[in-house]
Amino acid sequence: MFIDSKEKSIADNYIKNGYIIEKISNLDSLYWMKNELIKIIREVAEIELDDDEILDNFHKKISLEDLNNIRVKIIQKINQIKDFRYEYYRIAKPLLDLIVGNEVSMQLRTNLSIQIPNDNSSLLPIHADTWSGDSPFETVVWIPFVNCYNTKSMFILNPLETEKLMKNFNDNFNKSSDEIYNSIKHKLKWIDIKFGEVLIFNQSLPHGNVVNNESETRWSMNVRFKGIFTPYGDKKIGEFFEPINLKAASIIGMQYNKNK
Ligand SMILES: [Fe+2]
Repeated sequence: MFIDSKEKSIADNYIKNGYIIEKISNLDSLYWMKNELIKIIREVAEIELDDDEILDNFHKKISLEDLNNIRVKIIQKINQIKDFRYEYYRIAKPLLDLIVGNEVSMQLRTNLSIQIPNDNSSLLPIHADTWSGDSPFETVVWIPFVNCYNTKSMFILNPLETEKLMKNFNDNFNKSSDEIYNSIKHKLKWIDIKFGEVLIFNQSLPHGNVVNNESETRWSMNVRFKGIFTPYGDKKIGEFFEPINLKAASIIGMQYNKNK
């Protein structure tokens, strides 16, 4: 393989653990996105907290009944900002170049997760995206806007344990996600990640979250990426993904017609 040792160790970790966490080198983009997010929160909900505490302490200023409405409005507004996905890609690019490639398809919508303490209304029970038809070539870029740890974060099962789980898939198939979760709970890796870092994970491994039992709100975003020319699953090019950096030779190749 023609890759240097730093690249190799990142790639090896991704394959072995199913994820990597790295410091974000492009902090300008990260702070720009965080400021946009805070501006939107202030537009949508009247919250009298300073910028440095509004995210972690968000739950102290809103009622649970309003949360879903607020969440929908914030997601809508984020997705209306023209440069948001571009900045998102700029943050992920150095790692995507190593993990995915430099011709990538990016999810059209940016997902936002708001997990307020003790809220069980927006959980993501254990699942792998491939179980519901996603391509195994997809990867998820997950950016936290607060420090995430324990139940304020998310969990993932490593590839070795996933293989064991899948061997018994027929037995497990009829189990509820709670039963699956309880049977492998002690094997799950809880992601410990700080604001300023980015997580890239393999969505074909079981992952999810539980009720946030910490005392702070989690804010994180996630967007899927894949190589443009890798096979697509249920999430199609055009409706879910779009190529964002097609190269010249690929454009020529796609337009080439030998019968011309
Ligand atoms: Fe997922």
